[in-house]
Amino acid sequence: MSKAKKEYKRVTTKSLVEMKRNKQKIAMLTAYDYTMAKIIDNAGIDIILVGDSASNVMAGHETTLPITLDQMIYHASSVIRAIERCLVVVDLPFGSYQGNSRSALESAIKIMKESGAHAVKMEGGREISESVTRILSAGIPVMGHLGLTPQSIYKFGSYTVRAKEEEEAEKLKEDAKLLEELGCFGLVLEKVPAVLAKAVAENISIPVIGIGAGNGVDGQVLVTHDMLGMNHDFSPRFLRRYTDLYKTMFKAFEHYIKDVKSGDFPNDQEQY
Ligand code: KIV
Repeated sequence: MSKAKKEYKRVTTKSLVEMKRNKQKIAMLTAYDYTMAKIIDNAGIDIILVGDSASNVMAGHETTLPITLDQMIYHASSVIRAIERCLVVVDLPFGSYQGNSRSALESAIKIMKESGAHAVKMEGGREISESVTRILSAGIPVMGHLGLTPQSIYKFGSYTVRAKEEEEAEKLKEDAKLLEELGCFGLVLEKVPAVLAKAVAENISIPVIGIGAGNGVDGQVLVTHDMLGMNHDFSPRFLRRYTDLYKTMFKAFEHYIKDVKSGDFPNDQEQY
């Protein structure tokens, strides 16, 4: 059992900051449904992210843009029913907070009320600071997300590493500091150079959770379906596959089909 699992019966935004202070790494994974969330929570994860990557992983969209607030609430409430220990953070989907701070607050309140989630995550820095402030002032914990922000994919034009140039790296550092000062409890840094991510993590007191951001940060997040090897088409350098569930499941499905077709299933013990 991990030290954090022993120490923290329930993970809160406060315990995460404490974990950073005590140099205990934070483990975060995505989940979008009850069954997966139950396994991940029982395994001792610190944070489950109900990511808008559900748009890709669950619905098969090319980007995260199409997923709606109501669809995020459906996924988040399924996850919430499963968990006993971890903190559940839900992505505010594209279009639910970029317009103005009032609609951002309404979106965040809707998520918290209708799903029972513990916090929201938002992509962006200074551009969304008014919305972040308003949501925080309503007592809703906010996690920031900088670096590669997939909701802006059409502005970037590609999913390549961000902030390699000095100017973008400086802006990212300033945004990270600003999000800390506004009161965010944590920050996701996606696909940025490891040296930059380490510098950001050392410069702020809130936990920095990396994905493709190296090992100098306070924790790591991966998309669960990717780390389980359910998707062979997506192989970025940062992805470590812990198993090959595609192969395992494929074989099981083939086996089942063969058994049904041959009349082998069900046998005498498998019927009433
Ligand atoms: O939506 C998501 O899964 C995310 C992670 C990649 C951090 O934002």
